[in-house]
Amino acid sequence: MATPHNAAKKGDIAPFVLMPGDPLRARWISETYLQNPVCFNSVRGMLGYTGLYHGKRVSVMGSGMGCPSMGIYAYELFQEYGVDTVIRIGTAGALQPDLPVRHLVIATKALCDCGFAAGFAPDRKPVPDGSLCQRAQTLCQERHIPFACGPVVTSDFFYPTEQGTAPLLFANQGALCVEMETLALYLTAQSCHGRALSLLTISDQLCTGEALSHEERETSLRLMVETALALAEG
Ligand code: HPA
Repeated sequence: MATPHNAAKKGDIAPFVLMPGDPLRARWISETYLQNPVCFNSVRGMLGYTGLYHGKRVSVMGSGMGCPSMGIYAYELFQEYGVDTVIRIGTAGALQPDLPVRHLVIATKALCDCGFAAGFAPDRKPVPDGSLCQRAQTLCQERHIPFACGPVVTSDFFYPTEQGTAPLLFANQGALCVEMETLALYLTAQSCHGRALSLLTISDQLCTGEALSHEERETSLRLMVETALALAEG
């Protein structure tokens, strides 16, 4: 059984899924870290693979950019494919001056600068699974990965708007960084009774203008992917 956006049959996708925004990154992760990766989807180029990581079945699939795209793929994974855990692995722009590029952010909450939340009950909180969040912190500490843990803001806007650069306003509300998908993942996971966590690498420091080079992006990405894969091991 497939969906309008996913050609996978039931059973093709593992219960534990990593979701980078970029489908080509999903392919790179599957080729770099998984044994015997098998492609289960290429509809709209949103590549997805299942393979073994340290003997455990793991899937990796692109989410695309923004809440509507993440919302579609995450809903179908939880609701149609019996997925129980989705870990977003993405990049973000730092909104706090003391949060440098390369640092990891564990998103404890998603503040809303987007339209997606309108589809959910007003009392639903866009927060991650508590045990995944705890475990990710422990893994970062054990691996000496510099990280911060706190709220992020999920925005519909990558570029400045005619109303001013709204994400910077969320810095005053405690947002560590801005990205575009975490709120959709957290609300969708909760309403589908799934587990979710967002791990983000700071690729741009929006206060200072510092940005990661192409090579540095890959090195930082590895630390984040390896932390996410370690979560699959429990
Ligand atoms: N805005 C939104 N998403 C991002 C950014 C940003 O500045 N940097 C990396 N992902």
